[in-house]
Parts: sequence; C-alpha cells; structure tokens
Amino acid sequence: MTSHAMGRDLAQAVAWLQRNRPVAIPTETVYGLAGNAFSSAAVAEIFAVKNRPRFDPLIVHIGGLRALGQVATQVPPEALILFERFSPGPLTVLLPKAPTIPDLVTSGQPRVAVRIPHHPLAQAVLAAVEFPLAAPSANPFGYVSPTTAQHVADQLGTRIPYILDGGPCGVGVESTIVGFEPQGPVVWRPGGVPVEALEEVLGAVTVAPSGVSVAVPGGVKHHYAPGIPLYFDALETCLARFAPEELGFLAFTRADERLPRQQQWVLSPAGDLAEAAQALFAALRWFDGQPLKAVAAEAFPEQGLGRAINDRLRRASAKLAR
Ligand code: TXA
Ligand code: MG
Repeated sequence: MTSHAMGRDLAQAVAWLQRNRPVAIPTETVYGLAGNAFSSAAVAEIFAVKNRPRFDPLIVHIGGLRALGQVATQVPPEALILFERFSPGPLTVLLPKAPTIPDLVTSGQPRVAVRIPHHPLAQAVLAAVEFPLAAPSANPFGYVSPTTAQHVADQLGTRIPYILDGGPCGVGVESTIVGFEPQGPVVWRPGGVPVEALEEVLGAVTVAPSGVSVAVPGGVKHHYAPGIPLYFDALETCLARFAPEELGFLAFTRADERLPRQQQWVLSPAGDLAEAAQALFAALRWFDGQPLKAVAAEAFPEQGLGRAINDRLRRASAKLAR
C-alpha cells in the first residue's frame, strides 16, 4: 500500500490541519499523527485512524515555551528548567491541563503531556498553525512507531490525507516522559533524553518499570506485539528451541556466528547507543517481513539511550513457554 499524498509540501500539510484533519508529520524521535489539539473532531479522528483505545492519552506539541500558556494552567519551576535545558527536543512533561484542551486528548486525566519537538519541519508546521498539535506516533495501535515517511505510508497511507516527509528520524525512539509527582520527578517512559541527563539537572529521579503508565491503570505492557515473536535477552534459550535457519538475531555490536549472517541485524558495530536507537524500529519492521519463526534481541547496556532501547524490546517481547 502506497500513499500518493506524501511529500514535502508544507502548505498542503498545514491546509489539512486547518480543516481539522490528521496529517503525519516528522519529528526528531518518530513520525507523529498530528491534529488540532483544540478540536475534539480532529482528535477523535486520530484515535479512529490509529484504532487506539480512548483511555490512552495523546501528547500535545507546541512550538516553544511561549505557547505553554495555551496548553497548561501552571508550569512548576522544575518543569521550566527541564524545558529550558532539553527543548526543543525529545522531552515530554506532564503539566496541569488548560481547560481549552479537550478531555479526549488527556483521556480525562487532569494533566496534559507537553512536548516541544526539534525537527525543522515539525517546527515549521507549528509556526504556521495557530493551535497546538496533538500527536501520537503515526502507527496503528499495537505496532512499532514509524521512523520514515514510508513506514507511515505502508500502514496508514490510505487512511490519512497527507504524510509530510522529513526524512528518517534522527533519534529513533520516542520522547522521555517526565512527571513531577508528590514523591519527586518520575520518568514514566525512558526515551530520547537519557535519564542521566535529567539527573544532572534534577538530582535523583525515579524510573517507572517498563509499561507502567500513570494515565493507564494496569499499564500498556504489550505496547508492540510483532508478527514474529521477539524474545528479549534469550539467544541461548532460542538456540535450544529453534533451528539456526528459523531464528533472527538483533545485535548491538556483533553478529553471532551460530546464525546465518543475513538473518541478523547489527545496530551499531561501533557500540554507539544513539546510532543503535536510530535504527531500532526499522530493524524490528525488517525482521517482521522475514521468513523466520522467532527473533532474539540482546540486552543493551542499561545507560544512556540503552534504557529506552531495552524498554521497547521488553515491551515487544513475548514470553517463551518453558
Ligand atoms: O516522541 C514522542 O513522544 C512521539 C512523537 C510523535 O512526539 N509521540 C509518542 O506518542 O510517542 P504516543 O501516543 O505513541 O505515546 C504517548 C504516551 C501515551 O501512551 C501515554 O503513556 C503518555 O504518552 N501520555 C500522554 N498523555 C499523558 C497524560 N496526560 N498523562 C500521562 N501520560 C500521558
Ligand atoms: Mg505510540
């Protein structure tokens, strides 16, 4: 499935948004499915296109600090410090919601998730419209986030009027979500801003376990269930259960000599976690198209972007029947 309505036409993207229709836009993390955050109709169409349950709230994107008043009633000093240090960039902060943001956006939560994206085309779109943009990742619910315009076209191309192509995303994993809770700052989702960088500014922060959400009681553990089961940190176990020709391997720096090389994807031979994060979702999509029975993914160092990579792999992983 290919979309004809895909390109670099900023004016067309803006025109659809102004008509309260959803448009896929590039951000530095992943592609978003954007719509007027003030319009319940636009937001309802985003949920419908993604087939996303309405209890899972959307992130609201603004162009800069000046627009914070459009979306939030109050910005705690620590939140402002974070925005000043990491925005525009892959940071999302939970703030008390302005009444102008429909409850549908936040799934009835009193807080709204706010992000200032860095991608020049996202910035250009936000500068051209007079409203903030609600934008979840531009994938069907339960699938991995898109990091190219073609990824979006493959799955949503016939369901949305336009895909704005801004090239491959530079960060490759979604934003880091931070909330200021009574017990202190909590990272609700590790992402493009490493936890260590937040700690330099805030002191100690708590990292919520993978898939635990402040917004969704019970969490959304199976964020992504691949077509071919993925096993996290279980190459040895997989080798005992599957023939080498049935098994894929997602590696950090080196392929494993026990498997055919063409069934493996090495994310960063140089051992660079940022490079690995950038290619992660393209690799998961590629494995899904291979004639394999299972894919094993190794555990990454639990530091820097490795934390976000491990979180996504953990959420994508199936349980091996013992
Ligand atoms: O990098 C990103 O954050 C990308 C780009 C497009 O900006 N967006 C993204 O959106 O990853 P999405 O919808 O795939 O993930 C948003 C998650 C929700 O699943 C929820 O866990 C959390 O953000 N969230 C959103 N609004 C919230 C709220 N009001 N309170 C708590 N958590 C919220
Ligand atoms: Mg998503």
